[in-house]
Amino acid sequence: MTMVSTSDAATAATPEFVPLSKHIGCEVKGIDLRKPLRPDTISAIYRAWLDHAVLLFRDQDLSQEDLIRVTGHFGEFAPLGRPAHTLPKGFSRLLPNIMMISNIRENGETIGALPDGEMMFHHDTIHREDPHKATLLYSVEIPTYGGDTLFASGTAAYDALDAEVKAKVEGRRAVNYYVYNSVVRGDKQGVDATSQAAHPVIRTHDETNRKAIYVNRLMTVKIEGMSEQESDTLLNFLFDHCEKPEFVYTHVWRKGDLVVWDNRCSSHARTDFPSDQRRLLLRTTVKGTSRPY
Ligand SMILES: [Fe+2]
Repeated sequence: MTMVSTSDAATAATPEFVPLSKHIGCEVKGIDLRKPLRPDTISAIYRAWLDHAVLLFRDQDLSQEDLIRVTGHFGEFAPLGRPAHTLPKGFSRLLPNIMMISNIRENGETIGALPDGEMMFHHDTIHREDPHKATLLYSVEIPTYGGDTLFASGTAAYDALDAEVKAKVEGRRAVNYYVYNSVVRGDKQGVDATSQAAHPVIRTHDETNRKAIYVNRLMTVKIEGMSEQESDTLLNFLFDHCEKPEFVYTHVWRKGDLVVWDNRCSSHARTDFPSDQRRLLLRTTVKGTSRPY
């Protein structure tokens, strides 16, 4: 029998890992993230994250300090260019590395970012030269329906490409746009990007060495070195391919969910939700450890 020292402040719980779909997502059970984790538990969780790209912890009751500590298990904080938040009821403060995703309005102004409606598939911060490797989202208030997050495995989608398409995209780079306040790709044709970056269409993960499709319907506008028509045809094929249900896990949020996703090998989208219901999540982000290659 293994004895656990009572002086060990870290939780001795052993996590259970339950896959959420064939290709992406894994629920971590038996872990209370309010308590510090042992180094071997942190390693097991990190390995599961690399294997599944998305981790889900249900029924958590996290303080902002807890969220900051858990984020640190996945790497170094990415600085947030976050807007000045008006705090909703129940919040006396917001720690510096935390951003609010919310449709809640106080005095007619939204208190958080990305307030309303659906969002197409995208990789967070792909418009930057140094995209963030991870995003954490913790749910505080959730509408009665909608606002689901769909996660697509770029790795499984790449593996399923036929050799002819793989040959076409090999070594290609694509331009990714971020246009402030615009979420429709069609809007970006001929529009100046607020910021943009070109990255490989097929990205190699710097920790697993696995290849993944690294373009998305929301932000990728053009494959370099191709005519507009050729680029559009190939991109639309890749978007449709990546978003096939077989590569996607749909997360239906409950209050107290913490979800951590890997932006290097997965993309995500949001479904619409009732605008008259409150939705509030806390978000942190983790710096990339290499430029995409
Ligand atoms: Fe996102």
